[in-house]
Amino acid sequence: MTATAPGFQYKRPPGPKSKFPYLFSLQFLKAPLTVLNDLTKYGDISYFRFGHQGIYFVNHPDYIQSVLIINQSKFIKNPGLRLTKRIIGNGLLTSEGEYHKQQRELIQPAFDYGHMSKYANIVTSCGEDICTKWKQILISKEEEEEKEMVLDVHQEMTKLTVSIISNVLFGSNIDSNTTTDIIQDVTILVGYFNHLRLPFIGNIIEKMPLASSRKFHAAKRHLDSLIFTIIQEARRRIIQVDKRSDDIDRWSLNDPAANDKNSPRDLLSTLLLLDAKRGTIRSNKTTTFMTTQQLRDEIMTLFLAGHETTANALTWTLYLISENRKVEDKIIEEIGQVLESNRRPTMDDISKFQYLRNVFTESLRLYPPAWAIGREAIDSVVIGDYTIPPGSVVIMSQYITHRDPRFFAEPNEFIPERWSAELKSNLPRFAFFPFGGGSRVCMGEPLAWIEGILLLVTLLRYWKLELMPEHPVVPNPLITLRPKYGMKMILKRRYVDDY
Ligand code: HEM
Repeated sequence: MTATAPGFQYKRPPGPKSKFPYLFSLQFLKAPLTVLNDLTKYGDISYFRFGHQGIYFVNHPDYIQSVLIINQSKFIKNPGLRLTKRIIGNGLLTSEGEYHKQQRELIQPAFDYGHMSKYANIVTSCGEDICTKWKQILISKEEEEEKEMVLDVHQEMTKLTVSIISNVLFGSNIDSNTTTDIIQDVTILVGYFNHLRLPFIGNIIEKMPLASSRKFHAAKRHLDSLIFTIIQEARRRIIQVDKRSDDIDRWSLNDPAANDKNSPRDLLSTLLLLDAKRGTIRSNKTTTFMTTQQLRDEIMTLFLAGHETTANALTWTLYLISENRKVEDKIIEEIGQVLESNRRPTMDDISKFQYLRNVFTESLRLYPPAWAIGREAIDSVVIGDYTIPPGSVVIMSQYITHRDPRFFAEPNEFIPERWSAELKSNLPRFAFFPFGGGSRVCMGEPLAWIEGILLLVTLLRYWKLELMPEHPVVPNPLITLRPKYGMKMILKRRYVDDY
């Protein structure tokens, strides 16, 4: 089949033919994972229309590499994600071109593994706090001889990761009321965000009237004013910059907590310092280059990108472990070996949890929180036997490719043991890409791993989780892959007298 564009003929890949293309669009909206999975029967590259939009679905690691790495300059983020700008503004996730490159260069140093490792203590403390809260709920029930309770683990993991990202971004510089307000506003924003449904066609959905719209705008205004105030206060603290030194760690802040080696500088202060350093190098005087609006957009981006995905990853992992008792036994054994005499896990322990790392990896394979990535071609691009015309959308799906039997034996089974050195060295680079790739690769990956390992250790060593009987577990591919009906689980303490 060919399509005519001004002066050009494009051969289209195979795909579903429908007399009523809108019917197919509706099916896609309703069950995108099923539709994408069905498309794989057409080969590694297929084509369909969503309304007027031509979409290419690319399902081979080499083709994905071609889009995300080799030809990345010929693509921009897809129209759906660009629309989320209304929520997170022009931050790292949504910005494009030279501006994105500059911002990424500026912010990247704050996210390297060494820097992120300073936050390990915050992660473990927040994990311990939620365990204490669970224990209190249980104690309050014990009069009734109840030794267990039912909680929606998805909600719990969301609260947990919101409190971590809030602590990482702002440190102890905000009071608990502000934190509660932020969490409330962010929950409303994320709910609305998910109403946009699919990451790559949110623009179409957003035109539909939404009941939650007014609530969303009020939450956004309120959150903006909170974040603007936090930024102004952080700016005021950063006044003692030593212009003789290029080493930002020697620049002093007027904030005693930030200069305390035992408590890491919060990410917002780090960003302000990196920005001030850039200003100093360029203009030889201390100035911040980012406007308050720009900073707000980056902070909001990190807030949203930094908790939704991690909360989903933890929820799916806890679910998978609860369904696989042998895996759970191995994890508990490993925890016992690494943390002899019940001590607290630290950053140095992370590399020792080899089996748990494989468990988290396998969970990211089966239930990748970012289940699809979209791009829009801004130039003609050759992928395989086809030339993709500018204006087309290309979709790559982690959920589908991660379950491809060509790369993973028994692809739908949860087998952490599969992640041997041999598998890793033979696997094509983009057969497993939970964090994307290329210049837009996830910046928070180091933090995601720290959270994944340390929180699983902290929660699992004291708590045994079982799925509530009859609870339906259905993946819901919204902006991220969430459990459609939450994740109701029965929580029991492992050692009743020990904690
Ligand atoms: C399991 C957890 C996570 C997963 C699966 C995940 C996945 C992803 C993916 C697939 C992308 C690329 C999207 C694309 O190419 O269109 C991305 C981008 C991004 N992620 Fe994550 N992420 C996670 C955690 C985090 C955390 C904890 C943070 C920050 C604290 C974060 C911050 C970002 C940012 C800023 C970008 C945009 C990067 C850019 O375009 O330059 N992520 N993430």
